[in-house]
Amino acid sequence: MCGIIAYTGHRPAVPVIMEGLHRLEYRGYDSSGVCFVRNRELRVVRAEGKLNILEDKLAGMDISLATTGMGHTRWATHGAPTENNAHPHLSFKRNLAIVHNGIIENYRECKDILLDKGYLFFSETDTEVLANLIADEQVEGMPLIRAFARALEKADGAYAVALLSPEEPDTIYAARQSAPLLIGSGAGENFAASDIPAFLPYTRDVIFLEDGELARITPSGVDVFSIADLKPVLKTMTRIEWDLQAAQKGGYKHFMLKEIFEQPRAVADCFAGRVDAKRSAVRIPELEGRPVPSRLRIVACGTSRHAGLWSRSLMESWAGIPTTVETASEFRYRNALLTPGESLLVISQSGETADTLAALRLVKEKGAASIGICNVIGSSIAREADTVIFTQAGPEISVASTKAMSAQMTVLMLMALYWGETNGTLSREIRNRALAELADIPAGLSGVLPTLESEAADLAARFASCKGMFFLGRGQSFPLALEGALKVKELSYIHAEGYASGEMKHGPIALIDPDFPSFFILPHDAHFAKTLSNLEEVAARKGPVIALTNPPKDGMEIRGGESWLLPEAWGPLSSFFMLPALQLFSYKAAAFLGKDVDQPRNLAKSVTVE
Ligand code: AGP
Repeated sequence: MCGIIAYTGHRPAVPVIMEGLHRLEYRGYDSSGVCFVRNRELRVVRAEGKLNILEDKLAGMDISLATTGMGHTRWATHGAPTENNAHPHLSFKRNLAIVHNGIIENYRECKDILLDKGYLFFSETDTEVLANLIADEQVEGMPLIRAFARALEKADGAYAVALLSPEEPDTIYAARQSAPLLIGSGAGENFAASDIPAFLPYTRDVIFLEDGELARITPSGVDVFSIADLKPVLKTMTRIEWDLQAAQKGGYKHFMLKEIFEQPRAVADCFAGRVDAKRSAVRIPELEGRPVPSRLRIVACGTSRHAGLWSRSLMESWAGIPTTVETASEFRYRNALLTPGESLLVISQSGETADTLAALRLVKEKGAASIGICNVIGSSIAREADTVIFTQAGPEISVASTKAMSAQMTVLMLMALYWGETNGTLSREIRNRALAELADIPAGLSGVLPTLESEAADLAARFASCKGMFFLGRGQSFPLALEGALKVKELSYIHAEGYASGEMKHGPIALIDPDFPSFFILPHDAHFAKTLSNLEEVAARKGPVIALTNPPKDGMEIRGGESWLLPEAWGPLSSFFMLPALQLFSYKAAAFLGKDVDQPRNLAKSVTVE
C-alpha cells in the first residue's frame, strides 16, 4: 500500500514530509516523491528506490520557503516501480498535482476519453489519469474543490488522494473512498496522511475521513464536505494515545493480526479492475493474447503451494484444464516431463523464494510457457516469468503469510473463470454466481472477523498446551487443513499435522487420544457427509474434535465434538471464511504461549536459500 503525507502550516514543509515518509517506510515501497509550492510555482521531485535517493535530489534545492507540500511512497500496482510512475503526478496542464493510494478501476476508459481530448500522458499509472480528470473538470471559473469532487464522482474504485495546486498555494484537498486517509490537526498547521505514524510527532488529534468525504485543509483549519454534493460534514476529533510502533501496526498488537484484518481489502483490491461493474465478465490483461494452457503445472512452496492446491479443482472443473500441483523443492530436481502446451504457474508472495525461482528457470530452459502470481512488483519471479499477475495485497510484513493467500486464491479463482470462459467449459450461471459471491466476500469477512478473533482466543486458550493436533479436510478443505497445520507449527511451535480426512484410517488415527485434538474443516459442501463420518471415528476414540462448520441445517447436523460456526458461502467461497479462522486460531495460540508472532524462531519472510 502506498504512503501519503501532506502538510500545510508554519514550518518548511519538505523536512516534515520527508520525516513522515520515513515513518511510513514500514509499509513497503519502491519509489517516492514530493511536491511543494514555492513562489506560486508547483515543484515536483521524484525518485525510484529508497527515500535516501529522493533526499539526495532535494539536497541541492531551495525548499526552505515552501510551507505547503505533499509526499508519497509508492507500492506499485499499475506500472513498473520507476521514477516516471512515482507520485506526485502532475496534470497535463501542470496546474495541479496529486498523490494517491488505491486503484481507479475505470482508469482505462477515462484515459481513452482524455486522450481523445488531446491530453498527453507520461506514466503508466491510474493516478495520472485522475490528475487529468480533475484538470479536465476545471472549466473556466469552476472552484478547484468542485472540479475535484466532480472528477472523483467519475472515478470508480478505491482511493485516498491528496491534491495541491499553485492557485491555492496553502491549501491541501484530500478525499477518500475505500482506502484510509486521515487528518492531523495541529496548532497553526494541519496534515493529511494514509496512516497515523506520519504526523504523530506533531499532533495526536486526528479526524478520520469516511468514504465519500473530502477535506479542505489550510494552516488555520479543516473543513470536511460530502463529495457527492459538497455539503459540509460535521466531524469529531479523536485523540490518539498510541506510541509509534503501535501506530505502524494500526493499533493492532502484531503485523500478523493487522494483515489478517486487511484480508477484506486485499480480496477487494485483487478483483478491482479485473471484474466489470456488472459482475458479469473477468478481464485479466496479463493473460490476453496468450493461449489457454492444455495442462497446468502449479509449483510453489508453503502457503503459496496451499493456495495452488486449493485452486486445482477449479482449474479442472471450471476451466477444463488438467492440473497438477508440486512442491518446488521437489519439482526442481525431478527432471519433470512437461507435455506440449503445458504451462507452468508459479505462485510466490515475495517473488524471491529460491526453490520456486529455480523451478521457473528450469521450465523456461525447457521452453515451456510460464505465468507468475506474485505480490511484490519488481521481484525476481515477477521479472522472469513470461507474464505475471500481481495480487495487489499490499506489503505483507509478518513472516506468517495470511492476506497473501486470500489474494492468491482470489487471483486463481479469476483465472479459472477467465480460462473457463475462453474454453467454453464454464456455464454462465456458475460464472455469474461465483463473481457475485466473490464481490460479497470483503463485506462478509469484515463483519465476521472480530467475532472470529474472540472465538479463536477461547479455543487457543483451551488447546494451546496440547502435545499435537490434526487439521483435517477433503476437497478444497484439504489444502486449508494443510495451511491450518502450517500456521500452528510456524507460530506456536506445536506439532500439527494437516491431512486428507479420508486418509485417517490409513494409520494416523492411531495418534488420537484425549490430548490430541482434531480440527475438521467441514463446510456444507459435497464432502460434508463423508468428512462427518471421519469426525465421528475420531470422536468415538475420545479424541477432542472441533469442527469449523456452518450453522446446522436439515441433514447437516454434527453429533459429537464441538462446532466453530462460520458464515456459510457458496461453493469455494466458504474457504474465504475458513482460512481466516485458522489463521486467527494459530495467532491466538502463539500469543497465548508468548511466542514472537511476527518473527517466529528459525523463519525468514522470504526463503531465498535452498
Ligand atoms: C507461510 O506462512 C510461510 N512463511 C512460508 O511457508 C511461505 O509461504 C513460503 O516460504 C513461500 O513464500 P513465497 O510465497 O514468498 O514464495
